[in-house]
Amino acid sequence: MIRIRRIDTRHPLYAQEVDLRTRVLLRPIGLTMDDYLTLAPGREERSEHFVAVFDHPQGERVLGTATLLCPDGDAEERSGKVSQVCVDPQRQNEGIGQKLMVAIEARAFGELGLPGLYCHAQLVAIPFYEKIGWRVNSEVFLEAGIKHKRMAIAAPAETDIADPELEFELE
Ligand SMILES: CC(C)(COP(=O)(O)OP(=O)(O)OC[C@H]1O[C@@H](n2cnc3c(N)ncnc32)[C@H](O)[C@@H]1OP(=O)(O)O)[C@@H](O)C(=O)NCCC(=O)NCCS
Repeated sequence: MIRIRRIDTRHPLYAQEVDLRTRVLLRPIGLTMDDYLTLAPGREERSEHFVAVFDHPQGERVLGTATLLCPDGDAEERSGKVSQVCVDPQRQNEGIGQKLMVAIEARAFGELGLPGLYCHAQLVAIPFYEKIGWRVNSEVFLEAGIKHKRMAIAAPAETDIADPELEFELE
């Protein structure tokens, strides 16, 4: 059984989240977690962290993660920003990434009442977001030396917001 959990940086699973992000997202572009923290001071603590966890006999294992940064009270941008979406390379293409995004959208559009979400998607990941209804709304730009496009999704009509299933079996 895989569960999606929402944690913060003080949670015991945060270390595993950081390890996964370092392996899958940061190290391949020559960054450490310390570099990431320096680039955006305070962002980690202000973000909500979502982890997909598997019950291993020796304890919970984080297989995927994503973060959600809510807009500042007086910021012009009213949408939440989704970042650091990644899944353990040995468990990609099993639906874990999609389940993480379902949980983030449910949180953002349900309890938090945000009008939309956006992300800076690496070009290789654009089809992943498009499959769940996100759309590109920028030209290509460079971030950390990697080509990205901005993608976004608007909140659905209130009646369409479903309670997500946060525990699931993978086929
Ligand atoms: C991108 C990523 C988060 C997707 O997570 P995942 O668990 O592998 O994706 P899922 O299994 O939930 O895939 C959902 C759908 O998107 C598709 N998909 C996933 N990654 C894709 C990709 N790179 N290109 C095309 N389609 C992709 C899957 O085939 C699946 O389609 P289906 O429903 O028709 O079968 C994961 O592959 C990953 O960590 N990649 C490396 C890091 C990365 O690029 N992160 C994004 C940074 S913006």
